[in-house]
Amino acid sequence: MTIGWGMIGTGRVHKWVAPAIQKAKDTRLVAVLSRDKQRAAAFAREFGIERAYTSLDDLLRDPDINAVYVGSPNGLHASQTIQAASAGKHVLCEKPMAPTVAECRSMIDACRKHGVRLGLGLQYRQHPAHRKAREIVAAGELGRLEYANAQVEIPPLWTPGWYFEPGMAGGGAMYLVGVHRIDLLRFMLGREVVEVGAFIGEQPPERPFEDFVLGMLRFDDGAFGSMHFSLNIPHGANTLEMHGNKGSLYCIDTTSLWWGGSGGELLLKRDGGTIRYQFDKTDVYLDEIEDFNRSVLGTGEPLATGTDGLRAAEVSLALFEAGRKRGTVKVGE
Ligand SMILES: NC(=O)c1ccc[n+]([C@@H]2O[C@H](COP(=O)([O-])OP(=O)(O)OC[C@H]3O[C@@H](n4cnc5c(N)ncnc54)[C@H](OP(=O)(O)O)[C@@H]3O)[C@@H](O)[C@H]2O)c1
Repeated sequence: MTIGWGMIGTGRVHKWVAPAIQKAKDTRLVAVLSRDKQRAAAFAREFGIERAYTSLDDLLRDPDINAVYVGSPNGLHASQTIQAASAGKHVLCEKPMAPTVAECRSMIDACRKHGVRLGLGLQYRQHPAHRKAREIVAAGELGRLEYANAQVEIPPLWTPGWYFEPGMAGGGAMYLVGVHRIDLLRFMLGREVVEVGAFIGEQPPERPFEDFVLGMLRFDDGAFGSMHFSLNIPHGANTLEMHGNKGSLYCIDTTSLWWGGSGGELLLKRDGGTIRYQFDKTDVYLDEIEDFNRSVLGTGEPLATGTDGLRAAEVSLALFEAGRKRGTVKVGE
């Protein structure tokens, strides 16, 4: 069976995802949706897409579309996902899932009710380095987990205007780069974050969202963690680390593809030496689309599910709350 896709939006991430859908096996990129007719037509021409719509209702009525890629601003993810699910379309929704836990839950409920798949654009799970790290941790090679850290520090970036609209963005550094790392720690460690503390950078009114997040984490088995996301550090780190009482694992530059990075590497350090695993540059968007297609064809859930999106939202919101309170917060409360 060929899976027909409809894509919402013609922006930055779409320029990665449209070619990935075109390249994926047994897949057809049937249509794109834009608020502007000319932009829709131009995007369709550039990426060889058959149809261009300016109404979501029209796109969802298209019988050749089985799956919808929701790549709109964060504040629109919930309503568009629910609308697509109600039309019987499977949904791959971009991260962050939605700015509130209630919206995330309503997306999961709608997809369940209408019997369609819900996947999340947490594509770094697809990277072979992170899958290997998950295997290493699960095999007990680090011993008892003591501490994990996720860090992403980048220079100030240009972003579209909606990133500064409270109703559309919901957050800054946390949602721009943080949710991927929150998700990766959960994925690689196979643990949940149960409690957090945080300092959240404050912003002037013209840039209302945080450009700095410094978080402390406690995992469900008692291990500790930390995370730092900054949008003002041009020469900083982009790493994930996991430390146990027998070994340490470092993921170096495994999440820098968006900025033109390489495939990155993993370093496993134990008594007796260091093992280095190197990875070729990989198209995690293509892997994400093929993974989602397999799930639509009946081989189980996608690698990043609605529940994963919900958990990342719960941790993000707990970090915001901890920053506001200047204290610690239990996740999900
Ligand atoms: N997983 C990843 O690697 C990754 C990377 C980047 C972004 N993202 C996520 O993808 C989503 C889009 O981010 P982006 O950076 O690609 O943004 P973007 O360039 O602004 O794209 C968003 C698209 O949504 C459409 N849209 C519909 N209603 C809109 C509105 N009221 N205001 C603005 N745009 C509207 C626009 O298409 P028209 O103008 O043609 O209607 C626009 O092209 C966000 O949720 C973001 O977090 C994920």
